[in-house]
Amino acid sequence: MEKPKFMSKCLVLVALLIACLIINNVESQLTTDYYANTCPNLFWIVRRQMFNALMNEMRMAASLLRLHFHDCFVNGCDGSILLDGSDSEKFAFPNLNSARGFDVVDSIKTAIESQCTGVVSCADILAIAAREAVLLSGGPAWQVLLGRRDGLVANRTGANLGLPSPLDDVDQIIAKFAAVGLSITDVVSLSGGHTIGLARCTVFSSRLSNFSSTGSPDPTLDASMVTSLQNLCPTSGDGNATTSLDVNSTYRFDNHYFDNLLNNKGLLFSDQVLFSGNPTRRRRPNRLSRLTVKIVHSSSGASPIP
Ligand code: HEM
Repeated sequence: MEKPKFMSKCLVLVALLIACLIINNVESQLTTDYYANTCPNLFWIVRRQMFNALMNEMRMAASLLRLHFHDCFVNGCDGSILLDGSDSEKFAFPNLNSARGFDVVDSIKTAIESQCTGVVSCADILAIAAREAVLLSGGPAWQVLLGRRDGLVANRTGANLGLPSPLDDVDQIIAKFAAVGLSITDVVSLSGGHTIGLARCTVFSSRLSNFSSTGSPDPTLDASMVTSLQNLCPTSGDGNATTSLDVNSTYRFDNHYFDNLLNNKGLLFSDQVLFSGNPTRRRRPNRLSRLTVKIVHSSSGASPIP
């Protein structure tokens, strides 16, 4: 039971690694020991800072993992999400009032600079912090390839157009992942990042009433969840109340997110479509739903993903 579960968690992380490699398009230059001589304590410094951040707020693991993803999806993993200025990605729609953890990145950077001045790129700091975030949340570790260079320009339009939206359907999500070299399997595996963290009412409330102008809630959202989410997110509310992306397992990096999808308990529309398919084509199971089922079955001893 434990071993297959570990395998499926690894799948998520292997895909994460692949993502970083492909999106960066500089794989041959990255190495795990890039800072071995110039900053030998790098991993410990980041781990310590992340530990402190999580002691202060457990959610920060999720926030840092997402920061790395949002960095990598726009012009590769180049740290550009951290840049200020007129084209700052921080103010792109998917990040505005949403991306968090910049102060923690600053703390990590300060701690690193005090020991290894001017050596470690911010892009690499984000990559290591994401690994530590998963590890400290109970997920597995992986070797982080390093040696990324920091970008000097941000790309707000790229962030607006390239980052997936919680309202995207299956085809739109697949297209956005494909645009950065990621496969359908990567879509399902990487979406498993939603095993930790929170989301605001504003990103899922369209599912709670008059979904797609039907006059009713989204039929693929569990009825008891509809009721409790309607209480959390009244139509007159400000939309900033938050709830777990992975109900009943908010801060634990596990396979529970995929179990939820099979029980119509995916919080975001873009999560649930991975299993339920697009509303117009729901009668036929799609390739994504078969992949999702395989991931879940791999945690109960059935066949793993091919
Ligand atoms: C498949 C497409 C995806 C969509 C449409 C999506 C969308 C979202 C949205 C709307 C939120 C909530 C934001 C808010 O309430 O302000 C969120 C949170 C989050 N996302 Fe995604 N996401 C996707 C993929 C991913 C991937 C690939 C990862 C990482 C591997 C990831 C990691 C996270 C995490 C950890 C959070 C919680 C952040 C926190 O609590 O601060 N997401 N995502």
